[in-house]
Amino acid sequence: MLNIVLTGFMGAGKSLMAETLSRLTGRKAVSLDQLIVDREGMSINEIFDDKGEQYFRILEKQIVSEAAQMDNVIIDCGGGVVLDPDNMKNLKATGRVFYLSATPREIYDRIKDEGHRPLLKTPDPAARIESLLEKRLPYYQKADYTIETDGRSPEEIARDIVDIMDRDSKTA
Ligand code: S3P
Repeated sequence: MLNIVLTGFMGAGKSLMAETLSRLTGRKAVSLDQLIVDREGMSINEIFDDKGEQYFRILEKQIVSEAAQMDNVIIDCGGGVVLDPDNMKNLKATGRVFYLSATPREIYDRIKDEGHRPLLKTPDPAARIESLLEKRLPYYQKADYTIETDGRSPEEIARDIVDIMDRDSKTA
């Protein structure tokens, strides 16, 4: 069975959606960031601080290629996974890729009290979200499907995703 692949900006609700979908479908949820943390024995912040973003991206790419070989799972991707075309190709080969879209305002509201995202450790995270999201939008839009999340409940969004997967499995 095709994997469900969740992409989107930090704070778009990928992890919450992975849990919700897991409950609804019985599929296992796999967090790529968690696999990276387990493999390195360090937090994402520590990896960025001690080894740098480039090191993180290489590791992330390796983890993506391993996760893409799984079957019938929900893959919760870090927000930067889409930047590498090989990652997208691998994930699309065995799954359907969903872009969980949210406005910068909504993203800021969701993440403002959290401190574990190295790329948003800046004096003006709201401005950083806007500029980074604008730069990344063309990459997110390479997903198979875009799902708007603003103002919608996780259950509603999960239903949409399950309906699409059901439809695609019939036509596959
Ligand atoms: C990143 C997003 C993070 C994490 C790392 C880099 C990004 O994951 O992988 O901090 O480049 O957008 P979340 O999207 O789960 O916060």
